[in-house]
Amino acid sequence: MDWAFQRRQTGNETALKRPIGFLYLGIGLLGCGGPGDPSNKTESPKAIESPAEAAYRDHLEKGRMLSQRAAETLNARLNASLQQGGTEGAVAFCSLKGLPLLDSLEEAHGVHFRRAAVRYRNPENRANAQEAEHIARYEAELAEGRALEPVVVETTGGKTLFFSPIVLAPNCTQCHGKEIEPAVMAQIKARYPEDRATGFDPGQIRGLWSLEL
Ligand code: HEC
Repeated sequence: MDWAFQRRQTGNETALKRPIGFLYLGIGLLGCGGPGDPSNKTESPKAIESPAEAAYRDHLEKGRMLSQRAAETLNARLNASLQQGGTEGAVAFCSLKGLPLLDSLEEAHGVHFRRAAVRYRNPENRANAQEAEHIARYEAELAEGRALEPVVVETTGGKTLFFSPIVLAPNCTQCHGKEIEPAVMAQIKARYPEDRATGFDPGQIRGLWSLEL
C-alpha cells in the first residue's frame, strides 16, 4: 500500500492528501508490538510526520472543526425557524448572514466562511472555477461510492483553503427538493429570481463549505 504523502496538482492549486489509514498504519509500523499492542495507542504519530504533513493535519482539523460549528449553528437556527414559522417563514434563515457566532469565529480564527454551489440560490454563493472543480470531484466520488473527505489546498497566491462537501438531508428538500409548496416557491422566487437550487434528492451534493483559513 502506498501510504506516502500524495501531492496532487490541479490548475493553480496543490492539494496534499493524506490517506485515511496513515496515522494508524504509521503507529503500527513504529510500535514494537503488533496492531493489538495497547502501548501503540499512546505512541505519538508526530514522530513520523514531516512539518508539511503536520501543517496539513492542523489545517484540516481547523477547517473541520470550524465548518462543523458553522453547520451546527446554521442548522439550529434553521430548525428553530422551521418550527416557529413553518417552511415559508424559514426561507430567510438558510443563510450565513446574521449569525453572530460565525462573525466571532471569523474574528477569533482569522477565517472566512463561505458556502458555494454550482446550482446556487443566492448568486453570491455561485461557485468559482476552483470550487466547481471540487464539487465535481465530490459528485464523482459519491457516484463511485467513495468516502467524501474534506481537503486543504494551498494556492500559488499563498492562501490556505479548506473544502468539505454539503450533502442534502431529507428535511432540506422542502426548499431544495423536487416538490416544493407553491407558497414557499413564491417566496424563493421573489427573493432569488435566478434560483437554480431546486430539484435535489436527499444524499446529493448540494455544495461546499469553502473556508479561507
Ligand atoms: C426554509 C427553506 C430552506 C431550507 C429548509 C433549506 N434551505 Fe438551503 N437555502 C435556502 C435559501 C433561501 C438559501 C439562500 C441563502 C442566501 O441568501 O445565502 C439557501 C442556500 C443554501 C446554500 C448556499 C448555496 C446557495 O445555493 O445559495 C446551501 C449549501 C444550502 N442552502 C444547503 C441547504 C441544506 C443542506 C439544507 C438542509 C439541512 C437546506 N439548505 C435547507 C432555503 C432553505
